[in-house]
Amino acid sequence: MGNPMIEKSFHAIYGTAPEVVVRAPGRVNLIGEHTDYNDGFVLPAAIDRSIGFAGRKRADRLVRVHSIDFDGSVEFNLEDIQKDGQNSWSNYIRGVSKYLEEDGHRLAGADIVFGGNVPRESGLSSSAAVEVGTAAFWKNLLHLDVDPVYLVKLSRKAENQFVGVPCGIMDQFISALGRENHALFLDCRDLTYRHVPLRDDVKIVVCNSGVKRALAQSEYEVRLKQCRQAVAQIASTGLAVKSLRDVEPADLEAARSVLSGILFRRARHVVTENHRVLEAVKVLESGDIERFGQLMNASHESLRDDYEVSSKELDVLVELAWKQPGVLGARMTGAGFGGCTVNLVRQDAAEAFAEAVRRGYEDTLGLKAEIYICKASQGALST
Ligand code: GLA
Repeated sequence: MGNPMIEKSFHAIYGTAPEVVVRAPGRVNLIGEHTDYNDGFVLPAAIDRSIGFAGRKRADRLVRVHSIDFDGSVEFNLEDIQKDGQNSWSNYIRGVSKYLEEDGHRLAGADIVFGGNVPRESGLSSSAAVEVGTAAFWKNLLHLDVDPVYLVKLSRKAENQFVGVPCGIMDQFISALGRENHALFLDCRDLTYRHVPLRDDVKIVVCNSGVKRALAQSEYEVRLKQCRQAVAQIASTGLAVKSLRDVEPADLEAARSVLSGILFRRARHVVTENHRVLEAVKVLESGDIERFGQLMNASHESLRDDYEVSSKELDVLVELAWKQPGVLGARMTGAGFGGCTVNLVRQDAAEAFAEAVRRGYEDTLGLKAEIYICKASQGALST
């Protein structure tokens, strides 16, 4: 939903124009999956689907929020921000507001409307968009003099500690700092980053399996623990490693005997994925888009076989994609267990690709996929 719609909704509900309107995009990850919480590398892009926020200050300490997508409203007092067990959609906004207050940024009461077109529970980071949108809203409304990366970290803290989902930092980072027509190469250890230009003759096509990520959270936690266990066991061989980021393929081979089969495969995914991201950035910058696509394909195989976070539906979408003309690479994107695939497709083949995958998915599984031909977009806090 574009900003004019959000402004109209605000006007319809509160009877005046908003003081501030912001938008925070969803994201797709091109490569670097399940690496962020291992201090590794990622290469996501913000997409042209976003959550918009419109609002104005109030004279008191009350925050009233209307969600267009949930067609519901909540109120909370900035003096005492509690989790809402019923309207859980409001917890992202509550969490960000609470941690800003706790850090000494005195917020004002506000009337807010928000909504957008990032599909929920589809692996395109609608929750990160709500968190980052809330942070950007407060920043603009109150002219907070804060660093965007501080707001990224605070948004992630809201998700980890207030909402209770143990995600890494990738989604909030890209929703805040994405750039039009660029991907963002992020080192999740020291948070240094640079934007990498995308070619305009190649399209990012996202295929939504329509399957909600049912197992995603519990299996995500299991993977997180397995990665920590693998690090502890590799360290027990005398190697100085703090996270899987520090492990080279040769180290992993050398430590094979101390790792169970599962832990070895989990670690191998992360170790090889980090290498794939580094090579992917290099070849993207040198214009070798074919190699970039091969790395995406290898990433999918590793996520499917070693990390085991794909699903039947995602595999069908990816295998259909691999057969289409003009496809450079295809893989699942995000946490897995449902959600979306990301595909790089030559521009002149993109429409036919979308049609063929949609048809093939329905013929194979009797399910309907939604397909979005995306444009890499600006983040909510990018300048
Ligand atoms: C989810 C998390 C991210 C990241 C991905 C997997 O999107 O929110 O932090 O871990 O899964 O790459």
